Amino acid sequence: MNKLEEIQNVCLKRGIIFPTAEIYPTISGFFDYGFIGTLLKRKLIDYWREFFIKPLDMIEIDGSIILPERVFMASGHVKNFTDPVTQCKKCKSIFRADHLIEDGIKKFVEGKTAKELTEIIKKNKIRCPKCKGELSDVKLYNLMIKTEISPMGRQVGYLRPETAQNIFTDFQRIYRTSRAKLPFGIATVGRSFRNEISPRQFIIRLREFNQCEIEMFFDPENPRCDIKKINDKSIILLTRDAQKRKEGAKKMKIGDLLKKETIPNPWLAYFLVKEFEFYKSLGIPEHALRFRHMLPEETPHYSAGNFDLEIKFDFGWKEVVGNAYRSDHDLKNHMKNSGCDLSVMTDAGKKIIPHVVEPSFGIERTVAGILLYTFRREKERGWNWFKFPSKIAPYIAGIYPLINKEKLPETAKEIYKTLKNDFDVFYDDRGSIGKRYARADEIGTLFGITIDGQTLKDNTVTIRNRDTTKQTRVSIKDIRNVLKNNGI
Ligand code: ATP
Ligand code: GLY
Repeated sequence: MNKLEEIQNVCLKRGIIFPTAEIYPTISGFFDYGFIGTLLKRKLIDYWREFFIKPLDMIEIDGSIILPERVFMASGHVKNFTDPVTQCKKCKSIFRADHLIEDGIKKFVEGKTAKELTEIIKKNKIRCPKCKGELSDVKLYNLMIKTEISPMGRQVGYLRPETAQNIFTDFQRIYRTSRAKLPFGIATVGRSFRNEISPRQFIIRLREFNQCEIEMFFDPENPRCDIKKINDKSIILLTRDAQKRKEGAKKMKIGDLLKKETIPNPWLAYFLVKEFEFYKSLGIPEHALRFRHMLPEETPHYSAGNFDLEIKFDFGWKEVVGNAYRSDHDLKNHMKNSGCDLSVMTDAGKKIIPHVVEPSFGIERTVAGILLYTFRREKERGWNWFKFPSKIAPYIAGIYPLINKEKLPETAKEIYKTLKNDFDVFYDDRGSIGKRYARADEIGTLFGITIDGQTLKDNTVTIRNRDTTKQTRVSIKDIRNVLKNNGI
């Protein structure tokens, strides 16, 4: 069992994340969050807002999940949002052709046409992994989930495959009503849907997932991004050249990457720096993080350059954030297809269609990375635990009466009541104190507050630190400060 599978089992056992509608035969690619998972996800998104949205005073919107076909005709998704599939002629199983080739002969084939993939399959005699049957010619398959709008089903709609399109279709109204001036960012958080051919690897490849997306609009001739603050910062980058030469990623200075025009504009550079800091602060070590400059043949249809932030999982590096320089692709196409004017006025009085840089964060892949790298298995402790960073730990503290007598439960409940409005805390009086510490550690709770005999004498409690397991005696009135300083 690899570590991600072990994490999946832990999530199942503790009800953190588990298959959707699991009392029925499940469909792959759908997962539900239990109460711990929900808290973790909510805090992660709040932290993301604090980290990315607030500093630039961005506007956040919340758009519909189902959008009319015309939106995706304009964005190019109806034509281009496809994956290559092949079917076993014998057992009829369907496979994603590029993954089958990559797994089978370890050859990177992203961006190849259906015809080229068919030839590779034939030339390398790749057969059905299930029954060794012959595979069909490769066809392109659209990943959007189609639906019908209106009782008579006359209107075609799609469940959005990215949250970003709402930002473009709402752009004109938001721009007018917010009186925004370039550069400005619009952000959105919500669900996206893709009819993935082979959902796999726990929550890495899903059919329904959450994205946090930002569209940073700017004038390409005058981006007005303060790069002085980031010029000296470094990121770990796998360049296009390094990929061709089969070399590894290297730490590089942002200022140099901008000078060499490896990174095509300062806003993209700004987000790469911020993302590197964000993921490190979530407990992902530097050696497990890298940006990859996508090769031209794999760059999405809408992008003039993509830098993926990738995390190292057991099965290899996986994209967690896609950073695309979408230029004016979307606004221009929506303008053409809708007939609405989506241009804006610059300070210099020039009418332009702004360019846009888009960081697109996948929440589930981020959660998978956090779970993987904060999971601890230590012999001395005797149980597994999660070292969640304080910003996103589902619970800040557990509150425990040492024994269930001598007024200890009443005092403990009183402390719980005064804390629960301001902090995510829980009360637990079941089992030995060791078992309660173990249960709390298993879900990454930062502190354990124990009410014992001495509490009744001098109004002090012990506070146990999850990471060190050390306990300190603290006066009841100081509990808040401890939780505030370390917890939120
Ligand atoms: P992949 O190549 O792995 O399919 P992608 O290039 O299609 O990913 P993007 O289209 O750039 O991914 O989507 C932006 C982000 O949304 C990704 O970095 C990822 O975190 C998330 N995401 C995309 N598809 C899925 C999916 N099927 N399941 C879970 N998260 C996803
Ligand atoms: N908005 C980028 C993507 O989801 O592909």
